[in-house]
Amino acid sequence: MLSAESAAVIRATLPAVAGALDEITTRFYGAMFRDRPELLDGMFNRGNQASGAQRRALAGSIAGFATALLEDPDTRPDTLLDRIAHKHAAVGVTDDQYTIVHKYLFGAIAEVLGDAVTAEVAAAWDEVYWLMAGALIGREARLYQDAGVEPGKVWRQWTVVERRTETPDVVSFLLRPADGRPAPRARAGQYVSVRVRMADGVHQLRQYSLSGDPGGDLRRITVKRVAGTAGTPDGEVSGLLHEQVREGDELTLSAPFGDVFLDEPADAGTPVTLVSAGIGGTPMTGILAHLEALGSTRPVLVLHADRSPPTTPCAPTPAHSSSGCRTRAPCSGTSVPARRNPTPAKA
Ligand SMILES: Cc1cc2nc3c(=O)[nH]c(=O)nc-3n(C[C@H](O)[C@H](O)[C@H](O)COP(=O)(O)OP(=O)(O)OC[C@H]3O[C@@H](n4cnc5c(N)ncnc54)[C@H](O)[C@@H]3O)c2cc1C
Ligand code: HEM
Repeated sequence: MLSAESAAVIRATLPAVAGALDEITTRFYGAMFRDRPELLDGMFNRGNQASGAQRRALAGSIAGFATALLEDPDTRPDTLLDRIAHKHAAVGVTDDQYTIVHKYLFGAIAEVLGDAVTAEVAAAWDEVYWLMAGALIGREARLYQDAGVEPGKVWRQWTVVERRTETPDVVSFLLRPADGRPAPRARAGQYVSVRVRMADGVHQLRQYSLSGDPGGDLRRITVKRVAGTAGTPDGEVSGLLHEQVREGDELTLSAPFGDVFLDEPADAGTPVTLVSAGIGGTPMTGILAHLEALGSTRPVLVLHADRSPPTTPCAPTPAHSSSGCRTRAPCSGTSVPARRNPTPAKA
């Protein structure tokens, strides 16, 4: 709970801090990566750093958390915290790293706001930071425990047992644990991080949703190749997965995480509505496949928007017999799973 004294200071300074958060987070990441470059090797996503997406996410979440505390000092914005904690677990954040982030974040706040950061103001924002950090650390500890892994040690090797071309710019990889041990528990709708070594030697992580329910110890991910536009480069990890990963290769995957999943069987009777767009349909195909595997009779409404231009007509195969695949010849699926995986209907 935020103390009454700190609440008054936060209320008075929130507009100034929120207004400067973009500059604060730019300086924060700049200084942190200068001193701790290892955090950019296998933890932070450098595409998001370059595009500013991560800066905006961090800044928005702190402002959102402070605002929520002011509105109701006794409660926590659970949805916000759960989403971040799942992402942190999927990249292997550990509690000691909160001290590193604190040091550079508060250094940047002092630099940007200068004399406005009195001891009282610093103490109040410190309280907010550690309330948020404490809530995240607690959630992340539980997630690691549930996943049966030590904090931060989420990685395992998986073998690609099948690579299937879904459309010219989308491929699926069917994976099995390389060590022969059972696959970790996954809930329909969750995602894994894929960790790859780029050509310059730097490791990068990206998240991919589990896009099917192949059964047993198999897992499936489906990756859309991200094409650059004028002024922006091609996506580096999706490009590498498309160009270099073949059947028999190994990939490094995190345990599955993600706070948006099908609640089964607790909600067994309730209808399911799935809303997605573009490649965002992958968790929905995972959920639909899981419902089908269960033989579920739950009513399902699927709304899927796809802006890609029409391509050649679809060759119905057992795997693509609904409306998901729209290419006949180029659907060069080398092998088709025996069981049909439903795909979202187009809205
Ligand atoms: C929870 C979750 C689940 C996901 N599930 C899936 C899924 O199932 N399937 C799927 O295909 N994707 C999924 N994604 C997206 C995926 O994680 C990657 O973001 C995506 O593959 C792009 O990664 P990349 O390395 O290819 O692109 P990046 O290299 O990260 O580039 C991403 C974007 O940033 C731009 N960019 C990069 N560098 C710069 C720069 N210097 N200046 C300006 N712009 C720049 C690129 O042009 C591109 O548009 C998911 C994401 C999340 C968070
Ligand atoms: C109170 C402190 C922190 C806050 C408020 C915070 C907030 C966030 C937010 C909002 C996201 C984006 C979540 C999403 O995409 O859904 C995120 C992602 C991330 N965070 Fe944190 N975070 C904190 C601490 C840390 C720490 C200590 C580390 C480890 C050094 C860390 C590393 C990361 C990484 C690697 C990502 C993914 C980045 C990416 O893929 O671009 N965070 N965090």
